Amino acid sequence: MKKKMVKVSENLSDSELLKLPFMDSNLDIEKRVDDLLGRLTLKEKFTLSSGIKAWYTQPIERLGIKSFAMHDGPHGLRVDTQGKTKATYFPSAICRAASWNPDLSEKFGVAIAQEVRDVGAHMLLAPGINIQRTPMCGRTFEYQTEDPYLNKKLAVAVVKGIQSQKIAACIKHFICNNQEANRFTVDTIVSERALQEIYYPAFKAAVIESEVWSIMSCYNKVNGIYGSEHKHLLKDVLMNEWGFIGFVVSDWGATRFITSTASCVNAGLTLEMPLAIRYDIEILSKAHEEQKFTEEILNDNIKRLLRVMFLVGLFDDKSTLPKGSRNTPEHQTLAREIAEEGIVLLKNEASLLPLKIEQIKKIAVIGPTAKKRTYLGAGSSTNFPPYEIKPIDGMVEKCEGRIEITNIPSEAEITVIFAGLRHKKGMDVESEDKTSFKLPEEQITLINDTVKKNPNTIVVLTGGSPISMIEWIDNVPVVVQAWYGGMEAGRAIAHILFGDINPSGKLPVTFPKNLTDSPAHVSKSTYPGDEKVFYEEDIFVGYRHFDTKDIEPLFPFGHGLSYTKFTYENFKSSHVKMSAEEKCHISLDVTNTGEWFGKEVIQLYIQDVECSAERPNRELKGFKKIELKPNEKKSVTFEITKEDLSFFDEKTNEWKAEKGKFNILIGSSSRDIRLRGDIEYID
Ligand code: BGC
Repeated sequence: MKKKMVKVSENLSDSELLKLPFMDSNLDIEKRVDDLLGRLTLKEKFTLSSGIKAWYTQPIERLGIKSFAMHDGPHGLRVDTQGKTKATYFPSAICRAASWNPDLSEKFGVAIAQEVRDVGAHMLLAPGINIQRTPMCGRTFEYQTEDPYLNKKLAVAVVKGIQSQKIAACIKHFICNNQEANRFTVDTIVSERALQEIYYPAFKAAVIESEVWSIMSCYNKVNGIYGSEHKHLLKDVLMNEWGFIGFVVSDWGATRFITSTASCVNAGLTLEMPLAIRYDIEILSKAHEEQKFTEEILNDNIKRLLRVMFLVGLFDDKSTLPKGSRNTPEHQTLAREIAEEGIVLLKNEASLLPLKIEQIKKIAVIGPTAKKRTYLGAGSSTNFPPYEIKPIDGMVEKCEGRIEITNIPSEAEITVIFAGLRHKKGMDVESEDKTSFKLPEEQITLINDTVKKNPNTIVVLTGGSPISMIEWIDNVPVVVQAWYGGMEAGRAIAHILFGDINPSGKLPVTFPKNLTDSPAHVSKSTYPGDEKVFYEEDIFVGYRHFDTKDIEPLFPFGHGLSYTKFTYENFKSSHVKMSAEEKCHISLDVTNTGEWFGKEVIQLYIQDVECSAERPNRELKGFKKIELKPNEKKSVTFEITKEDLSFFDEKTNEWKAEKGKFNILIGSSSRDIRLRGDIEYID
């Protein structure tokens, strides 16, 4: 990379630089930050405020400040848009979320950070943790879930994993970037309660529980103000209330639309990316001369970037930093494991799955996504892996020498149709929303025609967002949701179909029957909006809406079948009554009563029986993923605190738990409740 030099004075020699306090890696980071900040001229601070060449900050050679390098994205490192640098392609975030496994998310964070380190960069532009408000959002696949609790548990795990390698995570897009339609300009009108209960929690937890080092502001406006100049969001909430120690970076080009340079500086936007527009040195100098912002405010913004530079070891000897690695067999295995745990068995009539390899002679493999790669075309989450195992590759590898593969369903005992969405215009892509909630017509016809020729038809769906299935689902016995499973997807799918792996994925998002059932799709003003989009469903996002309004979804939140059976029993609660300071422990026993080793996600939902405000019928407040051999029994314990019983009271503008009865629902999905109990909260 060609470096742009800032000529303010003579550069220091290497030996002179090394003697400066900020270069001393044994010194406390805050002291290093203060020392370096004190040496920067105003112009150098302006220089540090914007990027060059898409992914880098501007170096200040005089002080040995190298470019801070940041790269996308959420499913794998992407250094350049031509794919010159290869990297591991992990499953999409919705697939990882469907594993309901925070440990896997943390491992993913570690692995992807090792790849970032390997190319000498410092920050990953991920994870994307916006809430999946509508199945039509083009980036639903890039986000984790519709539920704030699951979202925060996974976000915290990913950030911890990434930052354990001294690589900065950058959670995005703060906040309410829940659609791609009009994404640069749309004004999201959202209540404080919905922000607090639905949209903030994962961001807040990533700040408080995993001390995230960077946040990307959103393109859109939130209640009338653009994310990059939203002083209330950035200064009051993020920094003052939550104690964010890192820096805010604009989404790429987001500052094009904001009202003024000074409003961004004053709001706490440290870094304008990819290039200087509002943070052009001349413009910043003029605004400063006109006293539109003070150097003190600017100092806080710059300190935040310097702090992260020290945290990632930008000034330190490379040998003292965690080692990087890329495209390793370990990372590829992890990519496969995430796909295997994320794949959701939606329907399995007559236990057609798992396929019994020794009993099948001929299998038909057809469908438009069987031979399609998925790494390209999604936008900033596009990946360039060294290889990708397509669904057909996984099937061939599995069947080779044992089962004949044909493309004629009527001649085979079993037919597998690979159908679904792709990363292309109108489907799962960045910068525009989906244009249809259904599979393409030709796929619906293919499924319905095939099943007439061969009733043993299995539909495996690629895609990263809910779709309607009502035109065909009753006709087919088996449906598997395989998402975008990364570079090992084909292998993972074959392992699930043939029972090498027992499926354990659970939907992190509700699959509605019809789009009009979905809470955001009441009118044009609730989605996609025009200048403004009104979040009228308020806190009733996802299953909170379906369960409260008693609308039957196609597949509920938390749903996912297994090849084995799990029995839930012995619900016990440590408390009948619980006060604010107490913690209530809920325990139960889960037994694998089937014949397969398997993993189960036990979900705990809370139902407030009586409340002065309207509350959702149930809210996820705990989950545990356990593994059990056949006949094995394990005890599972959850802890309930006052926080789990609370809601955001708009009358007093604070979180509050009201005294009274709360039901505790334990289930295998939000609608498959196996055990119940209750507890009385006493103030
Ligand atoms: C996306 C971000 C991404 C950035 C850089 C933007 O268009 O919204 O998620 O990190 O580009 O590629």
